[in-house]
Amino acid sequence: MSRRIGILTGGGDAPGLNAVIRAVVKHAVGQKRWQVIGIEDAFNGLLQTPPRLFDLTPRSCQGLLHRGGTMLGTTNRGNPFAWKMPDGTVVDRGAELAARVREEGLEGLIVIGGDGTQDIGWRLMRDHGIPVIGVPKTIDNDLESTDFTFGFWSAVEVATEALDRLHTTAESHDRVMLLEVMGRTAGWIALYAGVAGGADCIAIPELPYDPDRFADKIRMRRARGRHFTLIVVAEGARPKVGERLPSEVAHGQGNIQAGGAAQTLARLLAERMPIESRVTVLGHLQRGGSPTPFDRVLATRFGSAAVDLVEQDGWGNLVRLDNGSITHIPLEQVAGAPRHVSPDHELIQTARSVGIEFGTAS
Ligand code: F6P
Repeated sequence: MSRRIGILTGGGDAPGLNAVIRAVVKHAVGQKRWQVIGIEDAFNGLLQTPPRLFDLTPRSCQGLLHRGGTMLGTTNRGNPFAWKMPDGTVVDRGAELAARVREEGLEGLIVIGGDGTQDIGWRLMRDHGIPVIGVPKTIDNDLESTDFTFGFWSAVEVATEALDRLHTTAESHDRVMLLEVMGRTAGWIALYAGVAGGADCIAIPELPYDPDRFADKIRMRRARGRHFTLIVVAEGARPKVGERLPSEVAHGQGNIQAGGAAQTLARLLAERMPIESRVTVLGHLQRGGSPTPFDRVLATRFGSAAVDLVEQDGWGNLVRLDNGSITHIPLEQVAGAPRHVSPDHELIQTARSVGIEFGTAS
């Protein structure tokens, strides 16, 4: 039976989004002869008049596997259930969105996104009866439902390379180098890149730090003849007491733009000891560019599994990586559940065992 499904990408982009789209189209259109309709800019494409939709074919997906970003476009603004009108009022456009899905003859949607996007997909299914299958995405790797999200290892690779580069110049100049990486509420990128890049100190949001401990680490290294120090700071990391990050500002529809975490730590260190420090903020370099082989493979597995779920009428589920295997769980169990780095996570213990300082006793 020929079927017609929609596909969209929501939230911040992540390397591997195009690889998921490609896998869905190759499997559904190329193999099963279904129709796959791309929806532009997350759910927003369906709410425009006329809707911004286009047919996806294996030919239109050629050369996509290694390309960063998303050919469908994305946004982390514009929740259809809390839509901000030009006059500032907020309206619920859920019923309108569901009507558009039906008008377009879409049997259901494959929704690729993080917790916010999955939450919207789940509400669309629960409250308006639109069948949805979720595919988890975020460079932050902070979704409880899956071992890893695609995009994460690509971001870790960029951050690790940055650390390698900072390492040599730090050593030449006897400097304290601070690298700020993404992660407003979860420190996964900082933790993995810090271990992979041989950082001496790591600051993550889950472990509010005591700056004196980082200062002591720098002193100890100096006493051993190591006159430089590498520090990785997640953008949401903050000291235990007293400080607010300088450039934390609200923007858009409730999104928080982080910033200043590494600058704050550099200042706190300078107040405690003579140091020459430099801050590098890696920012969106972590989100752009090609996915790593791991992310390409994971994205392809997710895309293919999402089509299999459609075929089995497994709507209402999220595909995931579970102990190395691709499985799925009900969307209602995952929407909105973030995963933080637990203070006793095995990699924190490993990092401590090789002398990495987190700014906390335990
Ligand atoms: O959630 C992904 C992420 O890249 C975070 O790590 C980062 O804090 C945020 O998005 C940045 O969002 P924006 O692209 O809106 O600045």
